[in-house]
Order: sequence, then structure tokens, then C-alpha cells
Amino acid sequence: MRHGVKPVGQPRATTARAATRHGLDERLEPRIERTAAVGQAARDSLAFLRGFLQHPDQVGSVIPSSSFLESRLVRCAGLHTARCVVELGPGTGGTTRAFLRALPATAQLMTIELSPTFHARISAGIRDPRLITQLGSAEQIGEFLAARRLPAPDAVLSGIPFSTMPTEVADRVAAAVAHVLAPGGRFVAYQVRAHVARYASPYLGDPVQQWEWLNIPPVRVFTWQRLPLDPTV
Ligand SMILES: C[S@@+](CC[C@H](N)C(=O)[O-])C[C@H]1O[C@@H](n2cnc3c(N)ncnc32)[C@H](O)[C@@H]1O
Repeated sequence: MRHGVKPVGQPRATTARAATRHGLDERLEPRIERTAAVGQAARDSLAFLRGFLQHPDQVGSVIPSSSFLESRLVRCAGLHTARCVVELGPGTGGTTRAFLRALPATAQLMTIELSPTFHARISAGIRDPRLITQLGSAEQIGEFLAARRLPAPDAVLSGIPFSTMPTEVADRVAAAVAHVLAPGGRFVAYQVRAHVARYASPYLGDPVQQWEWLNIPPVRVFTWQRLPLDPTV
């Protein structure tokens, strides 16, 4: 028998058991995380459907956005380098979690949600020091940013249903977003129909339009970019 391989003060059998347990933990961890994520997604989908049945025009969709759409939104909005971001209509928070995963550690994300139920769910369910949750309407984005002393956002992302909102509300939201965006900042809106372009283009010019087919239903993703400051002026 070789001596000197046993860690001081620990019988070999205990060490072996610990190693096995540790190894098992390591192999089980990703599975446990995946199972938790699936459970979270299932609970979110149920809460989302309930929200849709109560307020179909306000929620505008029967299930939350897919992970494919989330990834496209992250890319379109340039979230990997953003410092201050606002999400309009986070719903049950699937998009919010995806945005937080992409954002730098020092960034801030403010959500503005009209539904008290969804707002409470996100406030209680997502623990992240970068997240600020706000109950209210997207029209109030300017006053909410000012109240929290947040800088002009580099990106505003919106899932709110412009096609079913009263036209004057839709126009006020578009004007308010264009007003608060930082120079060079982006407005990214995902919608089945193209109504949002009618409201935002007078303030921000022509958007880039893409489709995300891997979502139920497939949606258009519009990206506007506010002109950067002209360094010669
Ligand atoms: C289609 S859901 C998007 C949910 C989530 N972002 C997603 O992609 O799964 C639209 C959300 O916008 C919210 N909403 C509708 N009108 C709003 C408004 N004027 N201001 C803020 N949120 C609004 C609804 O309550 C709902 O949560």
C-alpha cells in the first residue's frame, strides 16, 4: 500500500465518497439548471396566457417570445455594450432575463409594464441589482427615467402591441421614445403587424426590418437608430 496520498485528517473512504458526490454534483448541475429553466418557462407561459385572457388587446400575444426572438432582439439592440436600457412591456419576464444575461455587469435595465400582475411577478421573481422595475405606461418613459436619475438610454426595446393601442397613446409612446434615446441609441420593436413603423418613423426615420420566423407567431423586428451627435458641430 502506498502511503502519503491520503489527505491529512481525512480517511480515504470519506475522500472517495466526497469526490464521487462532487463529481455527481458537477454532472447534475447543468441538468438541474435546465429543469429549473423549463419549470420557469412553463409557469411564465401559464401566467402569460392568463394575462392574455384577461386583457387580450393589452397583452397582444398568447405566449411569451421564443429564445430565438430574444437572441435577435439582443443583437439588434446591441445589448452587449449598452449601459442603460429600457424594456417596454416585459410581460412575465422571459425577455427581461435574456436581456440581463446579455448586458454588461455595470449596465442598468428599467422595465415599464402596464399590468400590475406582470409587474409584481417580475419585481418578485427576478433578483438582479441591474434591474429596476416600474409599473406604468410606456408613454411615461421620460418621467420614469428622470425620477430614477437614469441617463438617456442606449436602447429601448418594445413588445407592446401598437396595433391594438389607441392611436393617440401609440403616437405618444413613439414620440417619448424618440425624445429620450441617446444619440446613436436604438429603438427595437417586435410586432406581428407593421403599425409601430407608422408611429415611430416620423420621429426616427426609416427602420431596418427583419422577420423572426422561429417564434409563435412569426414577428417583424424593426430597428431604428437615432442619429449620433455630429462631432463637427
Ligand atoms: C406581447 S407582450 C410582450 C411580453 C414579453 N416582452 C415577451 O416578449 O414575451 C406585451 C406586453 O406589453 C404590456 N403593455 C401593453 N401596453 C403597454 C403600455 N402602454 N405600457 C407598458 N406596457 C404595456 C402588456 O401588459 C404585455 O405585458
